Amino acid sequence: MEVGQEYETTKFTIRKFLMKHIAVMTSGGDAPGMNACLRAVVRAAHNKKVKVFGILNGYEGLIDNQIQRLTPREVGNIIQKGGSILKTSRSKRFLQKKYRAVAIKNLIKKGINCLLVIGGEGSIKGASTIAKESNLKVLGLPATIDRDLPLVGPTIGFDTAINTSLQAIDRIRDTASTSNTVHIVEVMGRHCGWISLYAGIGGGAEAVILQEFDTNIKKLTKHIKEQRVSGKTGCILIVSEGAYNAEGGDGLIRELNKITNFDLRITKLGHIQRGGNPSAVDRVLASRLGASAVDKLLSGSSQYVVSQPKDKIEFIHFDKLVEKNLSDMKDYYELIFNLA
Ligand code: F6P
Repeated sequence: MEVGQEYETTKFTIRKFLMKHIAVMTSGGDAPGMNACLRAVVRAAHNKKVKVFGILNGYEGLIDNQIQRLTPREVGNIIQKGGSILKTSRSKRFLQKKYRAVAIKNLIKKGINCLLVIGGEGSIKGASTIAKESNLKVLGLPATIDRDLPLVGPTIGFDTAINTSLQAIDRIRDTASTSNTVHIVEVMGRHCGWISLYAGIGGGAEAVILQEFDTNIKKLTKHIKEQRVSGKTGCILIVSEGAYNAEGGDGLIRELNKITNFDLRITKLGHIQRGGNPSAVDRVLASRLGASAVDKLLSGSSQYVVSQPKDKIEFIHFDKLVEKNLSDMKDYYELIFNLA
């Protein structure tokens, strides 16, 4: 019998529910707001009388059967905390079918029939695979500082990461404009340049270099020189770590040194972008998505990413997720140069 199915007897209509048990994990690179999302899932499920299990260490923990009950009190006082109390992993074993079969079995043995995966692009691909290889109902909750899920829009953690980057960039701007130097600021985003675009616009950068668009180094040099002639002191170039075949800032500095005598400085923001208390935007997004995911699971749906591309919650089928949407990015990219 399906969960929630109604059946008729001669006297009554009985609504017979087979208990739904939800397991939830955080996976991949952690992102500020994962805890807020977890809290929302646990509490929303509790209010609907559904049991929740937390999987420790992402897919690695699922393979190793690190699954335990989570109660509303255990997710108290975490909405404001960065990282994830469930921890995360990047699991190589999960890429092999034999380990995925173990992972699925571990859930079934505990009577779990629903899975929520809180994570980025790779983690949601994993969720999609589990859904296809089992009868589990599976949903993804987009959480990554990279914002690398087109159609989905904002991901949990992105706003916080941008604000953290901007705090650093604002400080660098003070010293750059005082000492008249050219500063390269490397931001995260191994496979995706959205952080550099937002940090570039928000930080008033003179240019942004990211892997999605080719940078002509001569044109860039000319652009920097023109800025100086216009009276600007100091210059900030944001570079994505994935640019220059993942050489990021080092690649850019090498290319600029070949053809200019700019007084160059480099700052790599690195993992400070991943930590810290989630912003208000991320806490609200995480809470809304977490609670909506529980409702969606209870309605019997599977294989969706719960998202909020505009103001309304939307559900995007796993199969509709596309790799990248360059036309979306182009507008942002051009704005940086227009406003420099
Ligand atoms: O989570 C995505 C991300 O933040 C990327 O932007 C970055 O390249 C990567 O994680 C770093 O991962 P790790 O912490 O495993 O080195």
